[in-house]
Amino acid sequence: MTDSLARLAGAFGPDFTWGVSTASYQIEGAVAEDGRTPSVWDTFCQRPGAVLGGDTGEVACDHYHRYAEDVALMAGLGVDAYRFSFAWPRIVPHGGRVEPRGLDFYDRLVDALLAAGIEPVPTLFHWDTPQWVDDLGGWWERSTADRFADYVAVVADRFADRISRWITLNEPAMVTMLGHGLGTHAPGEARGFDALTTAHVQLLAHGRAVQALRAAGVGSIGVANNHTPVWRADDSEAVREAAEIYDAVHNRLFADPLLLGTCPLGVIPDDDLAVIAQPLDWYGVNYYNPTLIGPPADDLPFSLLDIEGYARNDFGWPLVPAGLTELLVGMQERYGDALPPIMITENGGSFGEEPDASGRVPDQRRIDQLATHLVALRAAQDAGVDVRGYFHWSLLDNFEWAEGYRQRFGLVHVDYATQRRTPKDSYHWYRELIGTHR
Ligand code: NOJ
Repeated sequence: MTDSLARLAGAFGPDFTWGVSTASYQIEGAVAEDGRTPSVWDTFCQRPGAVLGGDTGEVACDHYHRYAEDVALMAGLGVDAYRFSFAWPRIVPHGGRVEPRGLDFYDRLVDALLAAGIEPVPTLFHWDTPQWVDDLGGWWERSTADRFADYVAVVADRFADRISRWITLNEPAMVTMLGHGLGTHAPGEARGFDALTTAHVQLLAHGRAVQALRAAGVGSIGVANNHTPVWRADDSEAVREAAEIYDAVHNRLFADPLLLGTCPLGVIPDDDLAVIAQPLDWYGVNYYNPTLIGPPADDLPFSLLDIEGYARNDFGWPLVPAGLTELLVGMQERYGDALPPIMITENGGSFGEEPDASGRVPDQRRIDQLATHLVALRAAQDAGVDVRGYFHWSLLDNFEWAEGYRQRFGLVHVDYATQRRTPKDSYHWYRELIGTHR
């Protein structure tokens, strides 16, 4: 057993949930099959220069056809749970019409998971807004929250008997910031702070989804938000203010309404806050790295600075495991009793190691990432934060949004030309670690 394994062996106890995460548009492919219609990402990928190399999710990991192989990979890994997402445009491809073949795909997936003893933990929205919904105003229109709730009711009706833990939205702050504020993600709108409207509507959609799930008898509901420790470049008043604004947008825009029923930027009326702030059974945190904030610049009330002095992953993101402890302890302090048990719904890194001549993928850097972040997670638990599970992002190398296929986050390597899957060294390390908890 390696040192990093020995250090973590059994450290999280037998009840901790071990998992892996993916999302529909990033792995499924089959974008025009079985009645699916385009999502905003299919449209965005066609825009020249929008996605690196002109990559698209058309084929991705071909998971739609290879899901059985992928479930077998998870069974081999020994995970307790699998976080995936339902594709809204597969299930409701036009207006209010439900596509049975879309539901059937997830039926096959869910049954395969259950047969393998793996708990399905679905996300209802991981960024693939149907294009037809966007054409009607998308996340700018309140009616989208109702449409989302209708879709959620359909999915819940079909799966509530087999799925206990559900996630409403994935990283809605990124949809608002990148999709509608900066325009670097679909649907590619650069509308600056006006984009706060899309936060309001997503929050409302979350609230309505919770109502639909509860009506279907679902007992365990969470959300997956991206959080970052906000670091200040210096102690000046200008930087303090800038950091405060960045923290409000990145960390608190969704967490405060959901957990406290308040809105840090004052854009949400009280009636809506009551729908939004319904009790959650757990809270999902996606953590990658801290953010260093400097004074206002380039028409923004803050600037984003490079964090020096840490190793970086191939995306250029600094590797700061202690940031995870800092973040979780900080959330515990801020939200106190209003914070339900936490699950880490994403954490990982882009490391581009390829198979060597013997077919092995020696991704020691991912093992180090995983091990150090788990030590940091354990430290947060020791400091009193109730963390119940860890889902690594991701099971497979996949379509990394505007970065296309260049960034590889998988425990399993995917050769996109052949769709051959090769478990990396990190897969074997994670499998052994999970094994020490049995
Ligand atoms: C957050 C997103 O939820 C996921 O889709 C993405 O691939 C990872 N982070 C890595 O950037």
